[in-house]
Formats: sequence, C-alpha cells, structure tokens
Amino acid sequence: MTWLITGGAGYIGAHVVRAMTEAGERAVVYDDLSTGIAERVPDGVPLVVGSTLDGERVARALKDHGVTGVVHLAAKKQVGESVDLPLHYYRENVEGLRVLLQAVTAAAVPSFVFSSSAAVYGMPDVNLVTEETPCVPMSPYGETKLAGEWLVRATGRAHGLSTASLRYFNVAGAAAPELADTGVFNLIPMVFEKLTEGAPPRVFGDDYPTPDGTCVRDYIHVADLAEAHVAAARRLAAAPGTDLTLNIGRGEGVSVREMIDRINEVTGYTLAPAVTPRRPGDPPRVVASADRIAAELAWKAKYDVHDMITSAWEGWVRLHPEARRGQAQEG
Ligand code: WQD
Repeated sequence: MTWLITGGAGYIGAHVVRAMTEAGERAVVYDDLSTGIAERVPDGVPLVVGSTLDGERVARALKDHGVTGVVHLAAKKQVGESVDLPLHYYRENVEGLRVLLQAVTAAAVPSFVFSSSAAVYGMPDVNLVTEETPCVPMSPYGETKLAGEWLVRATGRAHGLSTASLRYFNVAGAAAPELADTGVFNLIPMVFEKLTEGAPPRVFGDDYPTPDGTCVRDYIHVADLAEAHVAAARRLAAAPGTDLTLNIGRGEGVSVREMIDRINEVTGYTLAPAVTPRRPGDPPRVVASADRIAAELAWKAKYDVHDMITSAWEGWVRLHPEARRGQAQEG
C-alpha cells in the first residue's frame, strides 16, 4: 500500500509517517508547510508541497505516486483561534476535506483515515466518553471536526470508500526529540515555557467539580496515537466497506495539578504553580473510554504520562537549551 499522509510534516503527522514506514507501508507526505516542517519528513519519503484546497495538485499526487489510501491530518487546530477565524477554519478544515475527498473518489482510492478530535464532544457530562456520547462541540474547531466526520462517512457510503474517523484526546510526547511539538499551545509545553522563564506554571482554575479542583484530561503519547493510525489503515485496506469512529485515549484521567507535579519530578524544577482564573470553555473532565478501539483494532496504549513528559522535555531542551541551565541553577 502507498499512503498519502496529508499534514505529514506536522507534529502528529510526522509520527504517523514514521510509524507507517516502520510498519513497512509506503508513505508520501502532502503538506502546505504552513505549520509543518519539511525536515520532519524522513529521507526516502516524497514530500509534495500543496494545500488540500488545490484539487488538481492532490489529484496529480494521487496519480503520480500510485496512492492506495489516504490519512488526512492536514488542518488548523487551535481552538481559541477558531473562535476568531471561523470562516478560515471552515475553509481549511471542511472545504479542504471536501476538495480532497473529491479527488480521492475520482481516483477511486479505496481507504481514508480522518484525523478527528475529542473536541467533537464539547463538555461531556459522563465519567468515560464513549463514541455514543452525544457530540456537542463548543468551538468552531470542534464543529469543523464533527462536520468533517459527517462528510467522510457520507462520502464513504456513497462512493464505496472505507473510512475511519479517529477522535484524538490530549496528545503529548515525542518518539524522538526532533519530532517534538514546536508549538506552545497545550498544557505540557506551556508549563515548560513558564519553568524556563523562571516563572510559576499556571493552573487555569482550581474550583472545578473534580477531586483536586483542577481539570482532568486523558493524555495519550503521540507514538501510541501513530500506531493506532497504522492499525486503522490496515483494517480499512483489509476490509472494504468499513466505517469506523474510534476514540484514541488511554481511558485514564490526569488532573492539571497531577500533571504539573509530574513535570516537576521529570524536569527537576520545583516552582509551585500559580492558580489563575478559569480559561473560558474548558470542560472539567474529558476522559475516553478506549474499549471500542481495543475491540476493533486490538490497539492499546503502551506509554504512560511519565514517558510523555520525559520525551516532550527532551524535545523542549533541544529547542530551548537555556531550560537545562535554569534547571541546574534552581536545583
Ligand atoms: C489541558 C488542561 C487547561 C495550560 C485542547 C483542545 C483539543 C485538542 C487538544 C486539538 C486544561 C489546563 C493548560 C496551562 C492549565 N486540540 N492548562 N495551565 O484544552 O484539554 O484540549 O488541545 O487538536 O481539542 O481543546 O488541552 O493542553 O490546552 O489544556 O491549567 O498553562 O490544562 O485549562 O484544563 P485541552 P490543553
């Protein structure tokens, strides 16, 4: 099989490329490099620079490389930004997907894996979120992911395309330092940034209805997430007519406070966190039931939170060597 991996120069996409090629699949990266980094694409993996909004370029890439399946990760992914730029998010995430699917169906490519998000659930009022939990997205970003799932499923049914929508929970860590997330948009890098500045990490609210008052999330190592893509891709290739929607999480909740404690253990920093007001729109608890993916794909996460923090820290100090100096001074 040859898989076109859109967004393959991004943080998660590059991990998917690595997992796919290590599993013996052929990969071709399609990325507009708006946030992706060309150096993340390994030697021997072709890189086509283009937007999924450019149907002709997609069609040519599918044909030139004899693509037999697509893993679509290319998207805008910042929740706050999506509130300010809904038109941009719908264009990139929904229209970009529509144009891509048009090319995919025209070329009769039989398998399509779609990168979705736990953001489709919004504020779930359940202990463990199953795939049957109602989807009530709270942001334009979450809406574009849910609309994307609908479009993928409808296209699959109409055109005989095997599809899987993978709902990622909170992705963290790196398979190698050079593959680490370079953005500072999520809890772990935001805490690293504060520690590096010598400032206390921030807890956005400690009056939530959770055991320690801080928000609880389901953190998943990006290398585990990438393996889930390999398993899904192989299932689609082996079983035409498949239509899967799967949570990808560990089924274990970790609070912000616990996370900061563990980050201090790994980094050696000891700055006590500062509690600041709640960030608008944060659900108290979002933890996956990972039962369906275990049953469907025999996939299970291998790495824990310690592995995520350790590997993310190696990536962070590679880009911010001063973080180690601060660590040494403080210690
Ligand atoms: C986790 C928790 C914060 C920073 C978002 C998107 C989701 C997905 C992943 C897309 C929250 C708290 C954070 C800090 C803190 N995105 N926090 N201090 O919001 O669960 O999920 O990213 O692809 O769709 O919604 O992740 O890492 O931003 O926050 O207290 O300095 O950490 O309030 O409770 P979130 P996050």
